[in-house]
Amino acid sequence: MPHASFCIVSVMTRISCLSSLRFIGFARFVSVAFALMLALGSLSLPLAAFAQTQTQPRSRVLFNDGWLFQKGDPAGAGDTLRYDNVRDLIIPAGDNLLNYLPPARAAASQAAASKKYSADFSAIPYLRPGFNDSGWRKLALPHDWGIEGPFAKELPGNTGKLPWAGVGWYRKHFNLPPVPANATANARRTYLEIDGAQSHALVFLNGHLVGGWPFGYASWRVDLSPWLKTGPGVENENVLAIRLENPAKSSRWYPGSGIYRNVWLVQTAPVAVAQWGVFVTTPSVTKERALVNIAVTLDTHAVNVARAARAAQNAGKVEASVRLFAADENGRPAGAPVATGPLNSANPNKNKNENDRAPRGAQASYSATLAVASPRLWSLAQRNRYVAEVTVTQNGAVVDRVLTPFGIRTLEFTPDRGFLLNGERVPIRGVCQHHDLGALGAAINTRALERQIEILQSFGCNAIRTSHNPPAPELLDLCDRMGMLVMDEAFDCWAQGKNPDDYRRLFADWHEKDLRALIRRDRNHPSVILWSFGNEIRELWEPDGWKLAAHLAAIVREEDRTRPATVACDNRDSGYNGTQNVVDAFGFNYKPYQYAIFHATHPHIPVYGSETQSAISSRGEYFFPVTRNTRDSRVNFQVSSYDPVAVPWGQDPDVEWAAQDANPFVLGEFVWTGFDYLGEPTPYNEDSTNLLNFSDPVEKQRMADEMARLGKLRVPSRSSYFGIVDLAGFPKDRYYLFQAHWRPDLPMAHILPHWNWPERIGQITPVYVYATGDEVELYLNGKSLGRQKRGTGEARYRFRWNDVKYEPGELKAIAYKNGKPWAETVMRTAGEPAQIQLAADRAALHADGADLSFITVTIADKNGTMAPRANNLVKFSIEGPAEIAAVDNGDATSFESFQAPRRKAYNGLALVIVRTKSGEKGVIKLTAQSDGLAPAQIALRSE
Ligand code: GAL
Repeated sequence: MPHASFCIVSVMTRISCLSSLRFIGFARFVSVAFALMLALGSLSLPLAAFAQTQTQPRSRVLFNDGWLFQKGDPAGAGDTLRYDNVRDLIIPAGDNLLNYLPPARAAASQAAASKKYSADFSAIPYLRPGFNDSGWRKLALPHDWGIEGPFAKELPGNTGKLPWAGVGWYRKHFNLPPVPANATANARRTYLEIDGAQSHALVFLNGHLVGGWPFGYASWRVDLSPWLKTGPGVENENVLAIRLENPAKSSRWYPGSGIYRNVWLVQTAPVAVAQWGVFVTTPSVTKERALVNIAVTLDTHAVNVARAARAAQNAGKVEASVRLFAADENGRPAGAPVATGPLNSANPNKNKNENDRAPRGAQASYSATLAVASPRLWSLAQRNRYVAEVTVTQNGAVVDRVLTPFGIRTLEFTPDRGFLLNGERVPIRGVCQHHDLGALGAAINTRALERQIEILQSFGCNAIRTSHNPPAPELLDLCDRMGMLVMDEAFDCWAQGKNPDDYRRLFADWHEKDLRALIRRDRNHPSVILWSFGNEIRELWEPDGWKLAAHLAAIVREEDRTRPATVACDNRDSGYNGTQNVVDAFGFNYKPYQYAIFHATHPHIPVYGSETQSAISSRGEYFFPVTRNTRDSRVNFQVSSYDPVAVPWGQDPDVEWAAQDANPFVLGEFVWTGFDYLGEPTPYNEDSTNLLNFSDPVEKQRMADEMARLGKLRVPSRSSYFGIVDLAGFPKDRYYLFQAHWRPDLPMAHILPHWNWPERIGQITPVYVYATGDEVELYLNGKSLGRQKRGTGEARYRFRWNDVKYEPGELKAIAYKNGKPWAETVMRTAGEPAQIQLAADRAALHADGADLSFITVTIADKNGTMAPRANNLVKFSIEGPAEIAAVDNGDATSFESFQAPRRKAYNGLALVIVRTKSGEKGVIKLTAQSDGLAPAQIALRSE
């Protein structure tokens, strides 16, 4: 498509009855109440209460509690349930997402569907409803079995040296109350919605296969209605059994495992808004007025073949209407409607630029365009949202009501003026993030994600690239609410994979469904600004690789034309071989020197750094001499925090920033990465073959010698060194380099290294200062070491004093702006470790079983100065209604359990993550003790 100023005006939403994050708390409450009802299925009171919810148009409750878990297949299962053997049976699972099913495919799908219902799995004991699972482990979702460990040195560092691979089973028993005699209620549909299960999920209800989904990052649902029982008693008990399998060679990073995202039980009337069936856009936005288009897809089919007689019920007159409200901070309607109108049965081809998806089979489309006067725009600073309430009636009775929060804002991706949000230039200061939450693993936790965003924003980051897969839906809710931009990414590979059992094996059957599912799920979020349909794609190294790119870009545009389709290209040639013409914005991975050339060649195509830098460092590690020679910056499987180096294919921040400063048309960048993540511990990432990573033979020999000297046959590293903050969320020095560059208006100064070098007295120990302002003066023990002006070259982004001779005492830096003092900081030599200090990020928590407090553990001297080389073992104990969810210290080589109540400090710091217990309120006390140190205690409240 033509690129000239790819101008986008749009709006976003998300379907959900419990649509916003603050409602997670409420949802959990509902879930508890609901679980209780399910557990007490034979009691009349809860049944009556639930029956009442059944007469509601739609119910959606968390289904996370009361699961049973077991690793491995039962004896005798053989290969029966391996993906290749059941593939044909589950492929129809996502067919409803496709726009068009060729007749042959439709027939095959139909055949598979009936085969699925008749397939006999009775030989697999775990599938038998009566199977005795009393010995299985009880747990609540979300759950990641891999993070439980233990670490094993034999396991590959690239995927975290954790046991995430293999088979896991989940079972859940539940009763549903009998449905009221009313016919519509009888025909209700019941779905299990899974936000993400890693991976190759197969779902069985009462012994019958009901569906599955292989891609571990996708959100999907299965229809439980055909085999669902209702009513009290053992004879009416339902048993869900879910089998997951993670092939060992399927990932380049730690993928996590298990049902690691939320699971929901959803009930609707037979005529109801389809899954992700509301799409809101704003075709025109001015100060005075925004036009808001609401496109709705309804499911109108009968419950199942056996109940076909009831199909007649569906023939009644179906009408739909919408009301728009300003949204409160939870995405709920606030005040009176700002616009209201009927939804009209839509001609799907009418709105070419909107939702032009043709309805399939038993679906119907409705739409309306309403005007909102004086719209309050969504921006990074003002996160104004609206909410569309869609109501569906059948013969006059309400059969569905769905709330969809959205935002009104304009996006423009220009080739010459960068990215404009609401008409104003916003440089994209983004980071790439993998999905793990450090010590918590892949198991989704909203507070942990929120903390990540808080930390990212604190150094000036305004965007996240969900590298390289669909994120948890909660991330997008948070970005809407907190004012972050999102590049939402689908795939790390297409048909030519990067590992033997990665997405390459699914691409042919699933890419269309996975891509459509991602966009349909996420396209109402104001935070989402770019759709990426791939990262560093092998096909794009081939001359006609752009053809496959064109196919995927077309799918993106069918689902949403309001944001650019893009792909992250590592091949320079992709900018010139045709790929550049099939995307709406061109992303270079690690090619800052290409920006100017690309722009000169294609002055009409917006360009940006889809992945940049890949600088590597370990928090608090400094090696001497400080040179740009990689060999001096790597010792004992750590990397120097002077940040002298990036990986060979990357560049240090200074190089990338200089290129962007020189080429202000660049939209911005996504730095690899915001946080350290589990796996991919480059430059120590290939276990014993790590040595291959060093192309310089001298360097290779030195590493071999070092491994021999340390007695390490294998590299211990199990998490990455790329982060601007470490795995525990503690800032590395580089955090301040970014803060100084991305938040120039914030008065700040930061000194490195730490100043505890008894073995270096009199030796050259360079001192760097990262600061805002335009000049910095450095003092050592009161004596000025000189004042430096921000300039070009060395002092452009960092102030460096390369000849400082170490003497203990105090370093002080004063930053100046326009000649006036602007910021000041001090770094002191610490004494012997003497005490533990505890500091919680939040002391008042929600008693919902999910809320977290992140407590920083500092080893300090008697005056309270952090001891920057301390590695004391700290033991934790907890009293009150909470538990220790995880511990960490940010050391990429530690094999200590993330789940033990103890942790060694790493360069002076450790982290304890405390989680509340559901429904239990009161005071929580965390105590930290360590031999030879004064202990510490901190009190929190669960409310
Ligand atoms: C890139 C890749 C990322 C990560 C990074 C490390 O090439 O896209 O996933 O591997 O390298 O530098």
